[in-house]
Amino acid sequence: MNVVMIGAGYVGLVSGSCFAEFGANVTCLDINAAKIEALKAGNIPIYEPGLDSLVERNSRAGRLKFTTEFAGTIENADLVFIAVGTPTENEGGHADLKYVYSAARDIAQYLDGYTIIVDKSTVPVGTAREVKRIIADANPQADFDVASNPEFLREGSAIDDFMRPDRVVIGVESQRARAMLLELYRPLNADQAPILVTDLESAEITKYAANAFLATKISFINEIADLCEKAGGDVQAVAKGLGLDSRIGSKFLHPGPGFGGSCFPKDTRALVKLAQDSGASCRIVQAVVEVNHEQKLRMVEKIVRALGGSAQDKNIAVLGLTFKPETDDMREASSLTILPELLRRGANIRAHDPQSMAIAARLLPQAIEYSDELYATAANADVVVLMTEWNEYRGLQLEKLKRFMRGNAFVDLRNVYDQSIMEEQGFSYSSIGR
Ligand code: NAD
Ligand code: UGA
Repeated sequence: MNVVMIGAGYVGLVSGSCFAEFGANVTCLDINAAKIEALKAGNIPIYEPGLDSLVERNSRAGRLKFTTEFAGTIENADLVFIAVGTPTENEGGHADLKYVYSAARDIAQYLDGYTIIVDKSTVPVGTAREVKRIIADANPQADFDVASNPEFLREGSAIDDFMRPDRVVIGVESQRARAMLLELYRPLNADQAPILVTDLESAEITKYAANAFLATKISFINEIADLCEKAGGDVQAVAKGLGLDSRIGSKFLHPGPGFGGSCFPKDTRALVKLAQDSGASCRIVQAVVEVNHEQKLRMVEKIVRALGGSAQDKNIAVLGLTFKPETDDMREASSLTILPELLRRGANIRAHDPQSMAIAARLLPQAIEYSDELYATAANADVVVLMTEWNEYRGLQLEKLKRFMRGNAFVDLRNVYDQSIMEEQGFSYSSIGR
């Protein structure tokens, strides 16, 4: 089967490589020429564990190719996936669909023979139908179906999530499209991954609903953590007690500095807008968005409290800048809100991250210093803030860390460490909800 992935970003590159691994002939097409040149030269533009060897293996086998050209690529495709970005629009919170629609117009010109155009990007209800209209208008002779196949992978474990998904959701309008997509995903049958076939709209809403529900769990546990801090109780014990109820489940009940990344923030905002536009009520998700913003500001207050009430002229060492470990993605990372606010309050900041320091330096104020060496980040620090739970921060040599510092405060925004051990080591330790 010939598959074209429009957009060679986190989703397009990972899912394209995985389809190639399953035996399809895949071409990843991106308008970013530098990205495509890098991929052709064997350089992976993002940090995603395991992706380099997957790309290398399938490129060598001739099943994975890269191009910037629609002409000569689309004509041969059985399936064209649209996996371009759908960021928040500049004004308001709607999903910006300009990249999706532009891809649809470019695809339309070159369609030749029956082709399925599949939305893999996260898009509001009605987008697949609009893609269909755009293509039919631009090329009335085209023989095609549209489908919706939202992607549920997570960054950092993207390949495993794609290869062993909890489910695959396929929204279709025709038996022919249904059969072809089921054939493409047939290799997953070995693991008995449930494949749910729906109409276009249900598939589109399922994706937003899934992300919004997971984000709701996080904001919920962050509020319970705040309650524990004020009323008593240990949120870790509470989360365990909650999660053992199989109706609730233990995942996504880990408190932290607010959810970030390229998806939960934008998708919760877009769902609220979609609901408003449709005349539906979306109060829960609206509250999730607000709680998440407040959570980041609460983290600023927590750090300032650990500094004795003022950040003025204090030295802060920050461990971790990305929105979660095992990715270099800085989109909507909580550090992008928390660090500028600490600077505004007069702090000096030195930061470390295993993957994202070059990217972070372009997004954060220039006043922040970066340290290539983990422990040197804490030189003369009044407080160490653990922002992202990278593995290398989970087993810190605490004595060594403390020798570098001038103060002894440690603020653990991921609840990685044990209070009593930290106190034995001489730290003034604070965490979330304990
Ligand atoms: P990304 O920004 O990493 O990549 C998007 C790519 O599309 C870019 O390389 C860009 O150059 C390219 N592009 C834009 N317009 C194009 C066009 N007209 N033709 C060809 N290429 C074009 O984005 P991403 O993180 O891969 O996300 C893509 C979509 O998948 C979004 O809708 C996102 O919500 C969704 N999604 C993302 C993840 C994730 O973990 N990142 C997971 C599930 C779903
Ligand atoms: C998320 C979803 O998990 C994927 O299923 C979805 O496909 C993807 O969004 C998307 O649509 O793009 P991702 O953003 O890669 O994946 O990362 P997550 O592991 O979900 O974490 C998101 C944020 O929530 C991170 O900032 C993380 O630190 C935070 N989080 C997560 C918590 O604070 N607590 C938790 O218990 C879990």
